[in-house]
Formats: sequence, structure tokens, C-alpha cells
Amino acid sequence: MKIQRRALTLALMATPFALHAAEPVKIGFLVKQAEEPWFQDEWKFAEQAAKDKGFTLVKIGIPNGEKMMAAIDNLAAQKAVGFVICAPDVKLGVAVNRAAKRHKLKVMSVDDQLVDGAGKPIAEIPHMGISGYEIGKQVGQALVAEMKTRGWKLDEVGALRVAFDQLPTARDRTMGAIDALKAAGLPAANVVDAPQAKTDTESAFNAANIAFTKNAKFKRWVAVGLNDEAALGAVRAGEGRGMKHDEMLAIGIGGSQTALNEFTKPTPTGFFGTVLISPKRHGYETAVFVYEWATQGKAPPPVTLTAGTLMTRQNQAELRKQMGL
Ligand code: GLA
Repeated sequence: MKIQRRALTLALMATPFALHAAEPVKIGFLVKQAEEPWFQDEWKFAEQAAKDKGFTLVKIGIPNGEKMMAAIDNLAAQKAVGFVICAPDVKLGVAVNRAAKRHKLKVMSVDDQLVDGAGKPIAEIPHMGISGYEIGKQVGQALVAEMKTRGWKLDEVGALRVAFDQLPTARDRTMGAIDALKAAGLPAANVVDAPQAKTDTESAFNAANIAFTKNAKFKRWVAVGLNDEAALGAVRAGEGRGMKHDEMLAIGIGGSQTALNEFTKPTPTGFFGTVLISPKRHGYETAVFVYEWATQGKAPPPVTLTAGTLMTRQNQAELRKQMGL
């Protein structure tokens, strides 16, 4: 009797899934800057997850709020069960949450944690991002070590912070770097903020150019930013003004193609290194989290913060191999 009842329960439980057996489960992966190598890598690893677990990944670029809302509606129309999102503006958090609820879609954020109207992280949306402040500190400490190797005097060096402070993780990263520089003895007065309009190389280039013009007294510079593109923009602006690679020292965050292109140039540029973070974890794991949440009711951990490792020309090949990239 007991066994029979259990068999019946199992049969009933299986029915709704059996009815849809022919349709593959669909999971969305929405990113704010699809052209950026980091996001391309995230998509690549999310695709890998889809292949391994047997679901369909729907990738959509969402450069602004309007496209983002349209993408969520589009996912619902396609009968997706959930999505991972890196929104074009974290303040769209409430709108994302509301749209997901309306369409009964599971949602998880990646890279940029969504906030509410008061700027507080939305706790009910699970998140995976990097440990911004800690990774920023790694950038700053690595700059200090290399300045020592080069025999630079910290009080003569300008520290350019390519800033995008409306994004909390960007602020955490660059502040971590500056704090490490200051802790090593770089005078606070040598820190120059260069606010960028967007998080790409061109915006960083423009911001850095203005800052260099206004602060011509510094002959040597270190530069930090939220990602490799920001650090690279500063390097390109410096080159445009005749700074050689022994006058400019920048370390980015990321380690995707933007950084690799610099490392494979025959002569080293001012782009000395990057803190390699994991597009594999961010792409693969978030996609699996949402898949298991939607299909098995297993909620992802509320917040997952990932770490990074300093990567330079010297250790890039080995390190990327170690990280499965
Ligand atoms: C933000 C940045 C990206 C990348 C990710 C990593 O979204 O804009 O360039 O650094 O964080 O989490």
C-alpha cells in the first residue's frame, strides 16, 4: 500500500514535466555591454553550462533600460523560466525585480549588484560578483611593488583613478586600489579622479586626457580603473601625450581579450598587468544556479563573491590554463 502510494505520488509529480518534455528549458543571459570581451567570455561559459545541463541559453545585449525591459518581456514570451542579468544601470533593480515577478521568472544578477530606490542591494535577488574592494587592493599593492622595482619615488607619482562611482563595485574596486597606494605612502594630494561617462576604453581615454592636461606637473603616473578597458584608456591617453612605458604603469581588472592583446604586443606597453577574475565562474555557475532554481526549486546562495589573481606578461599563459580559460 505504502509503496503504491509512493508510486502514485511520483507519477503525479512527474506529470507536469512530462507534458513539456519536448520543449527545452530556456534561460536568459542579459548583459549591459555585449561587445566587451568579459561579457563575451561569460556568455561562452554560460553556453557551456547549457550544453552540459541540457537547457537553451538566450543571450541578449541590453545597453539601456528600454532594451532591458523589452528583453525581459521577450524572454517571457519565449516561455523562458529565468534569467541572469548584468543591468545597464544598477538603479533599475526595482524594475527588474517587478518584471521578473510579473512574468514568474527566476532572476539572479551577475557582476553588478542591483539596488533599490535607496541604493541598497536588493537582497531577494541572488548575486554573484567579484570582491571589489579586495581586488582593488591587489591592484594597488601590485602597483606599489612594481614602482619599487622601477625605483619610482611615490611622492613624485600621480595616481589616476578612472572613476565610475555610480556603480558601487566600480567605486569599491578603484577605492581599494587607491587605499593600498596611500597605505604604502603615496600622498593623498597625488590622487587624481577622472570620471568616465561609460565603462569602455574610449570613455576612459577621454577622461584620462582631461586629467593629464590638468595635472601636467606629474611626469610619472600609475592608473587604475574598474576594468581592463578603463586602465587601457588611461594608457592610450598617456601614449598620445608621449608617455613611454617607463612613465606609465597601469593595472586593470578582468584578464579577457582586452588584456591579452596588450600582453602579446612585441614591446611592453604601460598596461603592466591585470587582476584575472573568472568569467567561467560568473558565466557557468550563474546559469546553472538559475536553471536549478527554476527546475528544481533550489535557490542560489544570496551572495557569492569571487577572487582574482595578478596576471602579467610573464604568467598569463600558465595562469589562464590553471583557471580553465
Ligand atoms: C562590471 C564591469 C565589467 C567587469 C565586471 C566583472 O560589470 O563593467 O567590465 O569588470 O564588472 O564583474
